[in-house]
Amino acid sequence: MPGYRDLFDTSISDPTSFWADAARAVTWTRAPNRILDDGNPPFYRWFPDAELNTCANALDRHVEGGRGEQAALIYDSAVTDTKRTYTYAELLDQTARFAGALRGLGVGKGDRVVIYMPMIPEAVIAMLACARLGAVHSVVFGGFAPHELAVRIDDVKPTVIVSASCGIEPSRTVEYKPMLDAAIGMTEHPPAHCVLVQRDRHRCELIEGRDLDWAELMAPKNGAEPVDPVPVAATDPLYVLYTSGTTGKPKGIVRDNGGHAVALLWSMRHIYDIAPGEVFWAASDVGWVVGHSYIVYAPLLLGATTVLYEGKPVGTPDPGAFWRVAAEHGVKALFTAPTAIRAIRKEDPEGRYVGDYDLSALKYLFLAGERLDPDTYHWASDKLGIPVIDHWWQTETGWAIAANPMGTEQLPIKAGSPTVPMPGYEVHILDEHGHDCGPGKEGAIAIKLPLPPGTLPTLWNAEDRYRVSYLTEYPGYYLTGDGGNLDDDGYLFVMGRIDDVINVAGHRLSTGAIEEVLATHPAVAECAVIGVADEIKGQAPRGLVVVKSGASTDGLAEELVKLVRDEIGAVAAFKLVDVVPALPKTRSGKILRKTMRGIAAGRDEPVPSTIEDPSVLDALGPILRS
Ligand code: COA
Ligand code: AMP
Repeated sequence: MPGYRDLFDTSISDPTSFWADAARAVTWTRAPNRILDDGNPPFYRWFPDAELNTCANALDRHVEGGRGEQAALIYDSAVTDTKRTYTYAELLDQTARFAGALRGLGVGKGDRVVIYMPMIPEAVIAMLACARLGAVHSVVFGGFAPHELAVRIDDVKPTVIVSASCGIEPSRTVEYKPMLDAAIGMTEHPPAHCVLVQRDRHRCELIEGRDLDWAELMAPKNGAEPVDPVPVAATDPLYVLYTSGTTGKPKGIVRDNGGHAVALLWSMRHIYDIAPGEVFWAASDVGWVVGHSYIVYAPLLLGATTVLYEGKPVGTPDPGAFWRVAAEHGVKALFTAPTAIRAIRKEDPEGRYVGDYDLSALKYLFLAGERLDPDTYHWASDKLGIPVIDHWWQTETGWAIAANPMGTEQLPIKAGSPTVPMPGYEVHILDEHGHDCGPGKEGAIAIKLPLPPGTLPTLWNAEDRYRVSYLTEYPGYYLTGDGGNLDDDGYLFVMGRIDDVINVAGHRLSTGAIEEVLATHPAVAECAVIGVADEIKGQAPRGLVVVKSGASTDGLAEELVKLVRDEIGAVAAFKLVDVVPALPKTRSGKILRKTMRGIAAGRDEPVPSTIEDPSVLDALGPILRS
């Protein structure tokens, strides 16, 4: 088998043959004749004349190929103490029937379905059922508040919303239904129907005529007949997943069917070293891209077994939770965010819980979602004694831009680096003039177009925003929004976002969105939100507010914290507020967020020559450093 360097070089010098070869792992209803449509740069489409069904690739073909009795999905809920295994035959049956139910509610090819659910098997079934119909799902993370859900509903305009009566957090039951109703109340495009999974912990009231009970809908007497997969163009959208941009309006990342299946299948074998029948566990949430790619689609496309874990790394019940799940289900590769490992380490610094379980099946720990700090890397690798693999990617790409390809060749690990670019990703470090920086020199991380299959072809309903956000600053390149450098060996070091996106416990948030909420408070004259270091979550949002003259600051911080929680959601983890006399600005009125970020991080930040009033920064320094 060729090593990393050969694979990478071929992917760049001859992308067509590289991806044509990878495409053979997919079962097409019409195989691709053309591999890349490059006739309309900077827009590129992979497999423009091919057809397939993603759900058929994830389920039907494995049942037909003799894997019907193999576990497809293991649901392990630490918060309800439930374990349930679905074989491929069972998962196919449930999915085909739920697809029938959705079709009965008017969902067809190209229609959208919003999925707002906790980590229960029905979430996976709903996603796959949409794929089966050629419908487009848009999963919204359960930790978002009604307003955020409403914004996504109005953008994607779903025919149906699938939800559940509640989610279960260790400390509380999160009632989804009131949030769903509130969100629908705010939208201009309410769905025709909602389907709700009634959970034992808390059942909700259904609205006559609009809401349907999942269990009743699926009962054979009610006519939920299984339906066959609908072939779609490889370039048709499979899903839209919203992620935070630099403004309050989230970006609808579009994923197509064909490139997605090809890239994920390639990644499972070559990066994660997983073969059909092996157990893979991504401890994330279906509401994030990691959940889409590596809880749902990639393991199932391959015929592996995926684990759906409803619980936390700590407190459900203890910091041995991950090791318990990995041991019990024979997990070969575990994928989570560094923040989860930091949380475990904090409660179990000696790693005592690791020794309580038989982890002989566990071969790799993959980490992504935020920078893997060398300390956390060393701790995990010492305690587990297996390769700990940092890899870097984004919602936009859907799979790793840089990684250490375990199924291809294990390259030496350098702590602090997600190793090397993956096939199809020609990574460049560019300076402000668009010139390549030399080795070791920091700049903007950009990727030469075309991006490989599986990456975003556009933004939902926002082609112009796609072009402006990603493709305009450096013509011919995709701008990642991250800064970093490549060393002499071609290893990439990702140092963090160079825009106003922050990463809190592996969750991507927009400081602009939080600022928009703060600005609605009547006492706030102006505000800025920056990301500051947090021991467990990597970063935490910190709000700096200037109050209107004469406004009271009594209880203001608490009110602002509550406002953000109500408007964006608990997941924003917004807890730090400082009332400051003024914010530093340029002479043209732009708030100097980057400068404040640098000072808060303890760096010796140069004062920009464009600053309007340097004394503002002098006054703010001690607050930022505190
Ligand atoms: N539905 C409703 N609320 C949710 C939620 C969900 N699906 N997920 C999180 N929340 C709430 C939490 O209950 C918490 O609320 P609180 O302020 O009342 O305590 C808040 O959102 C913040 O959650 P979180 O950031 O997850 O913090 P935490 O303190 O509960 O847990 C970690 C900290 C490190 C254990 C947790 O963040 C974690 O496991 N992170 C892994 C991240 C991950 O999987 N990222 C995906 C990329 S791989
Ligand atoms: P998301 O789209 O939520 O997956 O967040 C993507 C962002 O998370 C990236 O742009 C990076 O800023 C950050 N990120 C993800 N993985 C890594 C990693 N391995 N190292 C450094 N940053 C990362």
